[in-house]
Amino acid sequence: KFSVTIAGGGSTYTPGIVKLLLNNLDKFPLRQLKLYDNDKERQDIVADACEIIVKEMAPEVSFTTTTDPEEGFSDIDFVMAHIRVGKYAMREKDEKIPLKYDVIGQETCGPGGIAYGMRSIPGVLEILDYMEKYSPEAWMLNYSNPAAIVAEATRKLRPNSKILNICDMPVGIESRMAKAIGLKSRKEMDVRYYGLNHFGWWTDIRDKEGNDLKPRIIEYVKEHGYDVGDHHDASWQHTFQIAKDVQALDSETLPNTYLKYYMYGDQEVAHTDKNYTRANMVMEGREKNVFSECNRIVEAGTSEGTNLKAGDHASYIVDLARAIAYNTHERMLLIVENKGAINNFEETAMVEIPCLVGANGYEPLAQGNIPRFQKGLMEQQVAVEKLVVEAYIEKSYQKLLQALTVSKTVPNAEIAKQILDELIEANKDFWPEL
Ligand code: G6P
Repeated sequence: KFSVTIAGGGSTYTPGIVKLLLNNLDKFPLRQLKLYDNDKERQDIVADACEIIVKEMAPEVSFTTTTDPEEGFSDIDFVMAHIRVGKYAMREKDEKIPLKYDVIGQETCGPGGIAYGMRSIPGVLEILDYMEKYSPEAWMLNYSNPAAIVAEATRKLRPNSKILNICDMPVGIESRMAKAIGLKSRKEMDVRYYGLNHFGWWTDIRDKEGNDLKPRIIEYVKEHGYDVGDHHDASWQHTFQIAKDVQALDSETLPNTYLKYYMYGDQEVAHTDKNYTRANMVMEGREKNVFSECNRIVEAGTSEGTNLKAGDHASYIVDLARAIAYNTHERMLLIVENKGAINNFEETAMVEIPCLVGANGYEPLAQGNIPRFQKGLMEQQVAVEKLVVEAYIEKSYQKLLQALTVSKTVPNAEIAKQILDELIEANKDFWPEL
């Protein structure tokens, strides 16, 4: 049986992950579950409710909540990390500052993603270091955002650490593809895929007998995007619909929908309410609901009738832990150092590609040469991600300005500078002094 720490215990996603883990004890048995956060007050709201849920669903699992690193990271096999440095208040700034200049305001793309990256790097490294200090044999499964920049930072600054970087976006899109053509589960598909995080393309999708499913999926996407009709969140609806436009740019591949931010940036901005962004929606929707539901559970002393559901969309995290724990060699998309897997692409870039995952980590599957169109876009974006990490390490204003200027989402260097100067001011409690 395994011992797991969820880092970012106060996250709105934590109750869902806890329930998911408890629903999967037959596949991934737990002896111990710990929540760790550096914000006690926030974590306590979530943790008190989770304690009740654990007692109800699996009283045999020992449950601990802590803000003490030694307690949080001793005697564990896995860290599941979904931290958000600066919380939603800073996400709101990441989104709204660029929008003032008619530039994409988004938590992982463009200037907002860069700002969030500068905050996340030390937070993720801190957790990795705690894990290595107190449980040197453990693995960190990291899905903290912005995943691309965080992954590059861990490659560069902790090259030998046992960390796997993974994102839920391709998983979510594959689920939609599967549904679109009438499959029960994305697990009926084997995919080839290459790209960067939030910036990739599916090149081949087959069923387990080897039949080509891609033409049917493309046919669907040409008409509806990845809009399969069960997602009622307006801001996401548009993300899924835009897939058909991005797909038109290369009719052989299927895109990650976040490519819209790079290819249709101005249209996206036109679509956005600059005073009420995704952060506002999440704060007033998910965050309020999770916190009030947690308080209600604690007052009632039971989770009966709760609307907090298991985060089934996150089942890939259980798959990933299982792959390592039981050496399953499951094929999963991870964010890993290229090292030739994409043959005509920079060796040290962190790319998102299929890997086989087992007890000793991952083995990447070679994806061959990629076309000039995708390669050009990816080179520009990799430059952004590498410049951010270099800027962080060297505390370099100039490199961060270069990062914003290279980003396809920013129209010119002057606007890059104006946005950067505002971001520096907004992030003074988080970033190193440049
Ligand atoms: C997807 C993306 C994440 C992103 C999240 C935002 O899962 O892969 O990178 O952070 O959506 O979701 P939210 O509901 O907070 O806007």
